[in-house]
Amino acid sequence: MKKVIILKTGEKITIRHIDESDVHGIWNNFNQVVDEGIYIPVLFPVRSEFEKNSWFKTIKNENELCIVAIQPNFKSPYEVLGMCEISNLEWDAAAHVGSLGVIVQKKYRDMGIGFILIDTAIRESKRINHKEKIVLSCFSTNERAIYLYKKMGFQITGTRKRQFCMDSKYYDEIIMDLWIDDYLANHP
Ligand SMILES: CC(C)(COP(=O)(O)OP(=O)(O)OC[C@H]1O[C@@H](n2cnc3c(N)ncnc32)[C@H](O)[C@@H]1OP(=O)(O)O)[C@@H](O)C(=O)NCCC(=O)NCCS
Repeated sequence: MKKVIILKTGEKITIRHIDESDVHGIWNNFNQVVDEGIYIPVLFPVRSEFEKNSWFKTIKNENELCIVAIQPNFKSPYEVLGMCEISNLEWDAAAHVGSLGVIVQKKYRDMGIGFILIDTAIRESKRINHKEKIVLSCFSTNERAIYLYKKMGFQITGTRKRQFCMDSKYYDEIIMDLWIDDYLANHP
């Protein structure tokens, strides 16, 4: 699977499955989002090469899925504009469920990259991993993410009040899910 899409800036970017050369760029993005301090419940950037490479090996060994958006004209680590990961849950009886995480570089947000990454990841997780349902969570304050998830058909199934505390501020966690066949019926 490889798609080329044109952004509103006129830039041509590639959407495809992860390969090992993307790892550096993905963690660079992740650490920038950690530094933003308002989107994900992680307090410290990941610097360990071992941890970065172990994450990639887990994706491969567990047959998990990660879709990346690449600007081929940029040099590493800036060429990875965004990523969407769908990982497995720990329970045998939840093998049909994938857990979604998505990040887009700050200056490339609101250009449709998040939508295309999530759309591609949902379709590929059904095609390759036979997933039927996608779950995710985010801070209740993350208006852009919640808007996008709802636009794609995710429904809020619960709230964990004051689940996270960062910089002495509490955040509620919103839980959302999506049945893939419903998504495909609405997005043929
Ligand atoms: C959430 C995220 C992945 C979305 O990716 P993206 O590329 O910006 O998403 P898109 O451009 O496809 O869609 C964003 C939508 O939100 C809308 N939006 C932007 N700010 C908004 C706000 N404050 N409230 C509501 N909607 C908003 C945009 O207009 C756009 O909608 P439209 O396409 O219907 O006009 C990205 O913004 C991001 O990485 N954020 C920081 C990390 C993060 O929050 N990750 C998710 C953690 S659960």
